[in-house]
Amino acid sequence: MAAGYDEPGGANAPEVVTPAVDVLEDLADGPVLEFAVGTGRIAIPLAARGVPVSGIELSRAMAGRVASKPGGDAVEVTIGDMTKTRVEGEFSLVYLVYNTIGNVTTQDGQVDVFRNAAAHLRPGGLFVVEVGLPDLRRLPPGQDIVPFAMERGYVGFDQYNVVTQEFTSNHVTVSPDGQGRFRRIPFRYAWPAEMDLMARIAGMRLKYRWADWDRSEFTAESTKHVSVWERACP
Ligand SMILES: C[S@@+](CC[C@H](N)C(=O)[O-])C[C@H]1O[C@@H](n2cnc3c(N)ncnc32)[C@H](O)[C@@H]1O
Repeated sequence: MAAGYDEPGGANAPEVVTPAVDVLEDLADGPVLEFAVGTGRIAIPLAARGVPVSGIELSRAMAGRVASKPGGDAVEVTIGDMTKTRVEGEFSLVYLVYNTIGNVTTQDGQVDVFRNAAAHLRPGGLFVVEVGLPDLRRLPPGQDIVPFAMERGYVGFDQYNVVTQEFTSNHVTVSPDGQGRFRRIPFRYAWPAEMDLMARIAGMRLKYRWADWDRSEFTAESTKHVSVWERACP
């Protein structure tokens, strides 16, 4: 995935990146840490605004791209697992964006992410998560698949297991010469309320919950949330 991750448009479009960087810059009050920093899509523009940014990333291929990009040398990346890897320092903000909490596919693992975030925060520090909500309301009784794209050359669908809260995001692409590719990415979903409990287990409390980076109100119709928890002061 690293090879194609920085293609222009989509999640890399300025209208997607800039609102996230605006909010993170506003919430930061000192050094910040991105969990699952990827290729620096958010970390590099945030560092360019003068915020000291570090990152943890599991994939050497993704992390390797950070250093190769303009401004990437400002972001110090530690190879590791965000459920347990510790980096030195105390941070004003830890953030985990673009649905990546769901890449940890067990409840215990997700709790460990919250604990590890809290362990890096100074008292009063903030943990930000951006994640989509599972589309369960579109799931008719007896079915487990929700299609989200049906275009020429591309079909996308999610397949849910409502017992384990695991789901796979499935992407079928067919190039004009007829070559097909099927990618299946495993996730675990958690409702915002479950994440609030994970935060409490880790010693944090909800401070803000928005429907998006524009800080709009989170409602029953929201398809994602940007949530901010605060580490308790002793
Ligand atoms: C969707 S990308 C997001 C990258 C970046 N945060 C962004 O917004 O562009 C997900 C990233 O999470 C990383 N990742 C998945 N599980 C991880 C874990 N347990 N610890 C650290 N990184 C992880 C993957 O290697 C991948 O780079």
